[in-house]
Amino acid sequence: MARTALITGGNRGIGQQVARVLAMDGWDVLIGSRDKAKGQSAATRLRKDTGGRVRAIELDVTSDASVETAARVLRDGAIRIDALVNNAGIYGAGARGPDAVSCTMETNFFGPLRVTLGLLSLLRDGATITNVTSGLGELSNLDDAHARLLADPDLGRDALVDAIRGFVAGGGTDWGTDAYGVSKAALNALTRVLAKELAGRDIRVNSTCPGWVRTDMGGRGAPRSVEEGAASVLFGVTATQTGGVFRDGAKIRP
Ligand SMILES: NC(=O)c1ccc[n+]([C@@H]2O[C@H](COP(=O)([O-])OP(=O)(O)OC[C@H]3O[C@@H](n4cnc5c(N)ncnc54)[C@H](OP(=O)(O)O)[C@@H]3O)[C@@H](O)[C@H]2O)c1
Repeated sequence: MARTALITGGNRGIGQQVARVLAMDGWDVLIGSRDKAKGQSAATRLRKDTGGRVRAIELDVTSDASVETAARVLRDGAIRIDALVNNAGIYGAGARGPDAVSCTMETNFFGPLRVTLGLLSLLRDGATITNVTSGLGELSNLDDAHARLLADPDLGRDALVDAIRGFVAGGGTDWGTDAYGVSKAALNALTRVLAKELAGRDIRVNSTCPGWVRTDMGGRGAPRSVEEGAASVLFGVTATQTGGVFRDGAKIRP
């Protein structure tokens, strides 16, 4: 039986390349895209390129309603997920303006949490969840107090969510680094928390860092190709470990 993967933000960049590799490997691939037309054209492109089974599903990670609708569509189609890749993210120009901090946290931190919880009943026991992180989310970039908070092994989901809500309410200025860095540091902490919560179902949850990659986000000057970045992310899809942060298959400090 073919395995099924869902990749958020799969219509371009690293997410599209992850989708491409999985389609070539024989997976049933669902491309999550907040824009239906962009998702469909990416799915058409990947079907043509790979000959694989690729479909689009409308999914805006910042919207409860969108996640609920996507879950209903999947449930109605009797689709179960073997690998969820929380890849959708924004950085810099993607999140300018007065709501930039909130928008960054809603997409990069609350997005993976919302999608994971919203689709949890559709994940098979033994599935993997891969949260796409960044070196900018290393705890060493945060001030000591907040680095300690996120590193605390006893930190639970509610306390983490409260802390991030506090960061947003405070204008996103007082953790020692910018909203993007905090969003990815918090995502790594969420990875650890979810890994513990889901261990009973043998669902492995890991963060994987693609490195600095030549995509719309990373820009043309980045040292890594999209293929290299996606390969680093793909480690999470078949990982046997749980709760870690990895780059190129090697565990790194969160
Ligand atoms: N590129 C790098 O150097 C780098 C380095 C470290 C980590 N990362 C991480 O890698 C991941 C992918 O980055 P990338 O370089 O491929 O970025 P990208 O080329 O800018 O693509 C971002 C993707 O996320 C989607 N997205 C944004 N907001 C969304 C939302 N609310 N709901 C659903 N999809 C949404 C975008 O959809 P639209 O097309 O609709 O905008 C697009 O498909 C991100 O999590 C990023 O933080 C990237």
